[in-house]
Amino acid sequence: MTSLADIAGVGTDPRRGGYSRHGFDRVELELRTWFTEEAGRRGLSVECDRNGNLWAWWGVPGDGAVVTGSHLDSVPGGGAFDGPLGVVSALEAVDVLRAKGFVPGKPFAVVVFAEEEGGRFGVACLGSRLLTGAIAPDAALRLSDSDGVTLAEAVRAAGLDPSGLGPDAEALRRIGVFVELHVEQGRGLVDLGVPVGVASSILAHGRWRFSISGEGNHAGATLMVDRRDPMVTAAQVVLAARRAATSVEGARATVGRLIPNPGGTNVIPSSVDLWLDARADDDARTRAVVAEISAAASEVAAEEGCSVAVSEESYGDTVVFDAGLRDRVSGVLGGVPALPSGAGHDAGILAGHVPTAMLFVRNPTGVSHAPEEFAEADDCAAGVVALASVLEELAR
Ligand code: GLV
Ligand code: MN
Ligand code: MN
Ligand code: MN
Repeated sequence: MTSLADIAGVGTDPRRGGYSRHGFDRVELELRTWFTEEAGRRGLSVECDRNGNLWAWWGVPGDGAVVTGSHLDSVPGGGAFDGPLGVVSALEAVDVLRAKGFVPGKPFAVVVFAEEEGGRFGVACLGSRLLTGAIAPDAALRLSDSDGVTLAEAVRAAGLDPSGLGPDAEALRRIGVFVELHVEQGRGLVDLGVPVGVASSILAHGRWRFSISGEGNHAGATLMVDRRDPMVTAAQVVLAARRAATSVEGARATVGRLIPNPGGTNVIPSSVDLWLDARADDDARTRAVVAEISAAASEVAAEEGCSVAVSEESYGDTVVFDAGLRDRVSGVLGGVPALPSGAGHDAGILAGHVPTAMLFVRNPTGVSHAPEEFAEADDCAAGVVALASVLEELAR
């Protein structure tokens, strides 16, 4: 809690509430400096890989390391725990292990992944996707933020060479096993009455951009019958998203971001961009939900004299975490519940390449991606103790 308190003032967002900390922005760079200092204070040696992920090594860096960590960026107006709790707990776990005289028998690192939320450049888990090759460097370099700053410009400003972005076989080889601790983003552990659990799976999920074009015109002078208003189509897309996801067991669909162009109260927009976040248990269900929403969008757009283009901005199939590792982790903790995750994580990207596990810490509000996200100090401590035990077992 002291470590979280250390960074509590960094990146607060008075307008939205909570925190807005985004990949390679001033605030995230300040958090990276804080992490580098905290790691340095513990005698860990910090390096930044070619994709902007930070690695703090306990001892000599090497292949097949036991790696733990998370991210420091947030969604716009996010909570204090999603990301930072995993980073802080990793550093605290090092302290716990040190205090009991443990010396890792394997290379050991704490990692901070860059732009996990995609809150700035639109693609979640950008740092781990680049590292593993889940996004092509040229596609990543074309990404830009809402001010038109490209990823290339942002990483250059952060001291990285944009031409170095991309798959990093060396960094990947160094990860023998990855364990990410995270605040739970639902009420699973609250309902079970236990402070710590493990993750079993992550829903298939992705992001789609709907670009709807109509005719910009005057809000007062244009008769209702004469309009080609893309906002009317956008409204129907939002309703179609709810309808489609409600009709598929376990599916979720959200429109959390919508931008009318030009965006004036007395202006019928000429175009509207909106972003759909869709998730379900498997690829087929997720694709079916998106197909239904896309079909509804095309149909409504045609009726309204508008047009719509749908493009997939990122996608990942269902992740099932390594069952052997999960059983081992749960065993070390004396048997804890396994929970599915509706949220995506860097651990989900890495799970396709190395054995990966996640620990969840109870969140009494059950709320996440919002300022109300929370974890009690005692539960955070239980998370650190659990993480330390797991790392000790894996690194002995
Ligand atoms: C990441 O937090 C996501 O699932 O959106
Ligand atoms: Mn998140
Ligand atoms: Mn997270
Ligand atoms: Mn006027």
